[in-house]
Amino acid sequence: MKKCPFSLQNGSAVIDDNNSISAGERGALTFDNVHLFEKLAHFNRERIAERVMHARGSGAYGTFTLAKDLSAITSANFLHTLGNTTKVFVRFSTVGGGQDSSDNVRDIRGFSVRFYTEEGNFDLVGNNTPVFFLRDPINFPDLAHAVKKDPRTNIPNGNRPFQFWARLPQSFHQLTILMSDRGIPYSYRYMHGFGSHTFGMYNDKNELVWVKWHLKSNQGIKNLTDAEAARLAVFHAQKDLVDAIDNGEYPSWQVKLQVMTQKEAETYQVNPFDLTKVWPHKDFPLIEIGTLELNKNVDNYFMEVEQVAFNPGNFVNGICASPDKMLQARLFAYPDAQRYRLGVNYNQLSVNKPRCPVYNYQRDGLMADFSSDEHRKEMSGINFYPNAESKQLHLGEQAPPALNLSGQNRIYDTGSEDNFSQAGDLFRLLTEEQRVELINNFANGLHLADLETKKLMISYAYAADNEYGEMLKKILAM
Ligand code: HEM
Repeated sequence: MKKCPFSLQNGSAVIDDNNSISAGERGALTFDNVHLFEKLAHFNRERIAERVMHARGSGAYGTFTLAKDLSAITSANFLHTLGNTTKVFVRFSTVGGGQDSSDNVRDIRGFSVRFYTEEGNFDLVGNNTPVFFLRDPINFPDLAHAVKKDPRTNIPNGNRPFQFWARLPQSFHQLTILMSDRGIPYSYRYMHGFGSHTFGMYNDKNELVWVKWHLKSNQGIKNLTDAEAARLAVFHAQKDLVDAIDNGEYPSWQVKLQVMTQKEAETYQVNPFDLTKVWPHKDFPLIEIGTLELNKNVDNYFMEVEQVAFNPGNFVNGICASPDKMLQARLFAYPDAQRYRLGVNYNQLSVNKPRCPVYNYQRDGLMADFSSDEHRKEMSGINFYPNAESKQLHLGEQAPPALNLSGQNRIYDTGSEDNFSQAGDLFRLLTEEQRVELINNFANGLHLADLETKKLMISYAYAADNEYGEMLKKILAM
């Protein structure tokens, strides 16, 4: 049988893709326009809800190659055996803008890495900064409202984020990074990545340590000033990534860990689970563990970059969450957002599907599909547990060590937390030129702000470092 080259959704041949059927040459359309109706209806459904945050992004595939055997601290298989390679998918993003917003804004950048390991998907859903604005997730939707468009005018309102940040002094460390020369990376290739949160790692003896992930750009750091950014094409970072990979200039990052024992965590002067704080490298040096390289562009942006569903709760045996409250909330938020954005069976899509067998008794739901012959067999079998015939589940065998917790706490931020020392440490690391740029950027952002907001910000700058305060006060003529 001759295969038709061009078909309808049911596979039958398209007879004419240029003419609708009408009642006479100048007449209205008839109701047998099956092809036209299908084409229009499908077009109407081409868009899905964009991500509520980090909507604009770029992605690519690559590999992670292990340079240090980590079996002493984690039972995660992909972190054993030197030279071991694991396939990855990475998505970079801006945070506040919509799907088609500019790549060149002063904003944090998302840096999400999915490791397709033999033991399941491990997702590191981080940013290009080691800290965040908040230490309690209850403030997150307000942060998003403050940085996104004004609900009446539908345009960004430069005053609002500063109003919000000024009333949450914990955001000052992150804000100092955002206003610094690193606030607008030249493109995704020229920035570092961070897991930001503290995570747990546990070995075969069920011993637990706390770790932080760092990804250091082998391309180096390259940033844009506000003026340079304004001159670039809106989709600059997207093009930069696609072109580099198409030209064989594969971007790569050195992957490093900081490790803290449970004992150190109990006595260290900084709460290791506070996302507004870093672990100084002098106390917890970076340990190099491997290289991440991106070497394959996607074939279809929508299917791969738009439909990828990163989840900070995608752990594998040997890696687990820490008590960081921000991380805990994210364990709920992402799969919830993805069930809404992509539907309940989003893990069956090719970019999300684990590269190892998936056995469970979850069934049906919107767009349930057999993703492989093996899966088909599973789905036709028994669908409840316990049962008489299926394989035993090894419950608890690989569970992370239990934490010793008790009591209930209602006030996390008592107001006595040190929000400024680390912002001061960072300020003191900057060159004179970088300090001037920081202050100029701050002033550009604050010029629309109300008097009280400006006063609060100046007081935080003083609390971080006297010179920081002096410089900000002077430029704002206060
Ligand atoms: C309580 C705090 C937070 C909440 C509730 C939250 C919520 C969300 C939601 C709902 C999405 C969209 C997910 C999707 O539709 O696929 C998202 C995306 C994202 N978030 Fe968060 N977020 C929080 C904090 C953070 C932090 C601290 C980081 C980094 C350290 C981060 C990094 C990202 C990244 C990189 C993406 C884009 C993921 C991708 O590339 O698809 N978020 N966030």
